Amino acid sequence: MLDLLLRAAFLPDGRGPVDIAVRDGRIVDIAPVIEAEAAEIIDATGRLVSPPFVDPHFHMDATLSLGQPRMNVSGTLLEGIALWGELKPLLTPEAVTERALRYCDLAVAQGLLAIRSHVDVSTAPLVGVEALLEVKKRVAPYIDLQLVAFPQDGLYRAEGAEENLIRALDMGVDVVGGIPHFERTMEEGAASVKRLCEIAADRGLPVDLHCDESDDPMSRHVETLAAETTRLGLGGGVVASHVTAMHSYDNYYASKLIPLIAESGMHVVPNPLINITLQGRSDTYPKRRGLTRVPELRAAGVNVAFGQDCTMDPWYSLGSGDMLEVAHMGIHAVPMTSREAMAWAFDSVTLGGAAAMGLPDPSLRVGGPATMVVLQASDPIEAIRLRATRLAVIREGRVLSRTPPRVATLSLDGRPETLDPADYAPPRD
Ligand code: FE2
Repeated sequence: MLDLLLRAAFLPDGRGPVDIAVRDGRIVDIAPVIEAEAAEIIDATGRLVSPPFVDPHFHMDATLSLGQPRMNVSGTLLEGIALWGELKPLLTPEAVTERALRYCDLAVAQGLLAIRSHVDVSTAPLVGVEALLEVKKRVAPYIDLQLVAFPQDGLYRAEGAEENLIRALDMGVDVVGGIPHFERTMEEGAASVKRLCEIAADRGLPVDLHCDESDDPMSRHVETLAAETTRLGLGGGVVASHVTAMHSYDNYYASKLIPLIAESGMHVVPNPLINITLQGRSDTYPKRRGLTRVPELRAAGVNVAFGQDCTMDPWYSLGSGDMLEVAHMGIHAVPMTSREAMAWAFDSVTLGGAAAMGLPDPSLRVGGPATMVVLQASDPIEAIRLRATRLAVIREGRVLSRTPPRVATLSLDGRPETLDPADYAPPRD
């Protein structure tokens, strides 16, 4: 007797239609037809069933705070940081916890079951750390939440930031963060990268730095991060986040840098929703897109995983915890429209994010955890095109969330009365 049986699904790698059998939280069979009794059957006929979505870059201490204490008028990163500085003294652990839990509910409904969140540690008391460590415990049954000790105001630029960062790590924060391009000088930025990598190496922790989130073509901390990653052998435990300045580097420098990033083994996490709006603000025309060089990094073998970054906070007024929206924007902003690249964008917000977070490969396979999402789409590209409804979100065999399919009821003479936006057979690769 099975606990759960999904019927006639397609998988992101093109397999299907297949049935997926679940017992004791694990996938016990994937086959064209499975004849077995099951306590629960989900008819996934023609639907895509994928691993859960993963967001390797978020700011949960700031999420859903839009308008507190005011709006970001210029729309720039720097006004966002200043605005966050105005909000910080007003934060309470209760308010941060409440907003974070609300976001986690939204995430689950969107099939987003693993999140790496930066948490500001530049000023004491560590209200965000205290709150998010509690949230991490509370959501553990359904979300893998990792926390990054993030000195938002600069490791050296903010007085006491290093002590606060160490304290946050002692309290149980998982990852060492930083923001070298916000330090006072290039030299202090480079020194912060070295110091943070050494702290991580000493403690055996991963590193995830906001690195060169700038339009300045001379912001070149990612080269220091690659060099330190190689020197200390930190490899796949390191993430360079944002890396928008790479958009503005000259091609020769980029051609030297990208192989160094690949050699180091680190991951790159661009955040297309936020950086398409934050970057290029001081340009007249043309305005730079502010996204890093995704195709070139991919071609060099670097794992690139798109992140959400923000939802309704001092930096971004929109967002919804929807990683398909993130992939959709990534495709437009890079731009990359081949079918191979668009299908890759789907993998980027599932498998790529998991690799960047150091999680086990979440691909659906016999023996693996029955953690998956049933989408109102037939393949990954359709899922991105439609920002497909998550019909069911399943973690270790337990259905956490269901959403009814999006179907329009039409009143048109002589035409079908109902319209399922996913009722279209796209080309099969
Ligand atoms: Fe960020």
